[in-house]
Amino acid sequence: MAGKVFFSVSMSLDGFIAPESMEGFIAPEERRDAPDVQRWMAQWMELQQWIFPQRFFRENLKLGEGGEEGRDNEIVRETFERTGASVMGKRMFDLGEKAWPEEAPFHTPVFVVTHEKRDPWERPGGTTCHFVNDGIETALDQARGAAGDRDVRIAGGGATILKYVNAGLIDEFTIALSPVLFGSGIRLFEGVDAGRVALEPVRAEPTQRVTHLTYAVRER
Ligand SMILES: NC(=O)c1ccc[n+]([C@@H]2O[C@H](COP(=O)([O-])OP(=O)(O)OC[C@H]3O[C@@H](n4cnc5c(N)ncnc54)[C@H](OP(=O)(O)O)[C@@H]3O)[C@@H](O)[C@H]2O)c1
Repeated sequence: MAGKVFFSVSMSLDGFIAPESMEGFIAPEERRDAPDVQRWMAQWMELQQWIFPQRFFRENLKLGEGGEEGRDNEIVRETFERTGASVMGKRMFDLGEKAWPEEAPFHTPVFVVTHEKRDPWERPGGTTCHFVNDGIETALDQARGAAGDRDVRIAGGGATILKYVNAGLIDEFTIALSPVLFGSGIRLFEGVDAGRVALEPVRAEPTQRVTHLTYAVRER
């Protein structure tokens, strides 16, 4: 049986999934101490403050041993284990290409929607990124084929998730609602076709660090 199509992101309480400029991740060495870069990193770390201490996340991103093993950790692990393939936008890939460890953290095929023609990017540990030039539906078909019985994760970023939401292609999503206010940045639902998308609450799980909210997506 085919799996679900879902996304799972961390969001600030005022609706942003990343600070405005992406300089923080890709700044050259000599700019790392610049105030704008430092501000970007500080905001990003605040948004993701719940996930960095988690044992599974730390091991998968080669951040070091140990870490928390409570409900947040289980949610990170469950999200990883249900995912048979991922789809992402080119800007998220560009950041990840620079920031992920050599053994990239997906360990499955990844389909990158982009206008750029490029050979597959193969990493040790089972992650291979394929570049798809003919649209989000083709990328999803390929991801479904690769995922088998498992689910397809639309990994991000905001622009790509929104295209899948507005095309009616998302079955379910989870937001880790972080106790932080951004004021500006990349807004998750900027441009959503609200007349088309209806939500059904599935689960709300507060932890000490964050609130995990899961919704099923229905057509209106
Ligand atoms: N908070 C979280 O949990 C979370 C999770 C994931 C990502 N993020 C953040 O999200 C940000 C990136 O998001 P973003 O919204 O800026 O960009 P994005 O969705 O990652 O990428 C957008 C790009 O993907 C390509 N693309 C998208 N749809 C396409 C289509 N139908 N056909 C061809 N190409 C297509 C285009 O690139 P080209 O035209 O250049 O090919 C487009 O500019 C990053 O800052 C990342 O950190 C946050």
